[in-house]
Amino acid sequence: MNERDTLKINNEGHLEIGGMDTVALAEAFGTPLYVYDEVYIRNMMRTYKNTIIKEYSGNGLVLYASKAFSCMAMYTIAKDEGIGIDVVSGGEIYTAAKSGFPFDRVYMHGNNKTYAELEYALDCKVGTIVVDSLGEAETLNEIAGERGIKQAVLIRINPGIEAHTHAFVQTARTDSKFGFSISGGAAEEMTKQVLAKENLILKGYHCHIGSQIFEKQSFVLAAEKVMNFIAEIRNKTGFEATEVNMGGGFGVWYTDEDASLSATDYAEYLKALIYTIKDKCQEYGLKEPFLLIEPGRSIVAEAGITLYRVGRIKEIPGIRKYVAIDGGMFENPRYALYQSKYTALLANRAKEPCTEKVSIAGKCCESGDLIAVDVSMPEAREGDILAVLTTGAYHYSMASNYNRNLVPPSVIVKDGRADYIIKPQTYEDLIRNDLIPERLK
Ligand code: LLP
Repeated sequence: MNERDTLKINNEGHLEIGGMDTVALAEAFGTPLYVYDEVYIRNMMRTYKNTIIKEYSGNGLVLYASKAFSCMAMYTIAKDEGIGIDVVSGGEIYTAAKSGFPFDRVYMHGNNKTYAELEYALDCKVGTIVVDSLGEAETLNEIAGERGIKQAVLIRINPGIEAHTHAFVQTARTDSKFGFSISGGAAEEMTKQVLAKENLILKGYHCHIGSQIFEKQSFVLAAEKVMNFIAEIRNKTGFEATEVNMGGGFGVWYTDEDASLSATDYAEYLKALIYTIKDKCQEYGLKEPFLLIEPGRSIVAEAGITLYRVGRIKEIPGIRKYVAIDGGMFENPRYALYQSKYTALLANRAKEPCTEKVSIAGKCCESGDLIAVDVSMPEAREGDILAVLTTGAYHYSMASNYNRNLVPPSVIVKDGRADYIIKPQTYEDLIRNDLIPERLK
């Protein structure tokens, strides 16, 4: 519980998000339903933005990592808050373009951007491309040349730190499909290659050490290694990076096994990065580079919840009780993929004490289709509204139509109102691209 908190329990014992009764939301919009609190999202964007203004004289830009939740409304909010975005596919570029996003504030990532995606990025005038292979640099140089433009780029590098939640490891050489290793010399070699491309303007470097990280020291170490590398390259080649992009990865609360961070705590992570960069600049006599960060999860995860209706309940005596809901791995594949843990509660009886441990099962034809295992809840009944918390990031964006289930709609709440930002799919949407060739008829 902290100042960004969007969740409350009202006098009727109903869960509220952003001041809206979730039971009323479920009635009005149906279930399953993704719900996002706009104030929360904007507060997080502002927290990072204001920290850069206050602690780094505004010499930087927050990029919302839009893979966490990409839709036109999110790009519109990011635009409105004056921040940038990170995109990773032609589809994300298209969505941003349709939202009227200013492309000078767009950074494009990807270890295997296709030729068509690079062309499209340049057509849209994407501000910066983060190159991740020599082949990509060559292709981009060629496409930029054809268009008579000089394209700004960063090189993705590996500082040799991999971080996950509360732990991090330092490795001499990172085994990753992303980036160029600093220690192995690949990052230096790539720098020389890119500097020699006449249609590319190398601005600096990007790294991203992982996601759902709470350990401040891992960000600090990564920044130290990147800055050491920048100094080394300056000494060896004369090229001094003017931009440093430290990626995203700040952790969020899913269950009480995770810390629940306040806006101030997130600002502290960023401050730790900033101070490290400043110190290193002093140490090496470097000009302070333009700083980019790419938070995705920490902006939107805790802003979102998913509402379900409880369906069949099955108890296997002495083994387990399954509470089935009208969602599942098609709208939240994170348990199936990562065994992610969640907090679930009965939104219509939120004040009742937890009396049993149950597993929340989805409706897909797959036994691994679970949303949460062994969660404490009051005894659920068919028809109850179940809320799963912290579902704003990597839920809608990873949803599918598995079993031809419909991806739930998304609504955003603010000032006592709820609006669709992604409307409900229909069965017609499912067959929109289906064709029956003549010979099958
Ligand atoms: N920048 C880059 C280059 C990234 O690859 C990512 C995430 C981010 C920024 C944003 O990281 P964040 O602040 O959201 O941690 N599907 C997984 C998460 C994959 C994250 C991939 N990259 C999940 O559901 O946990």
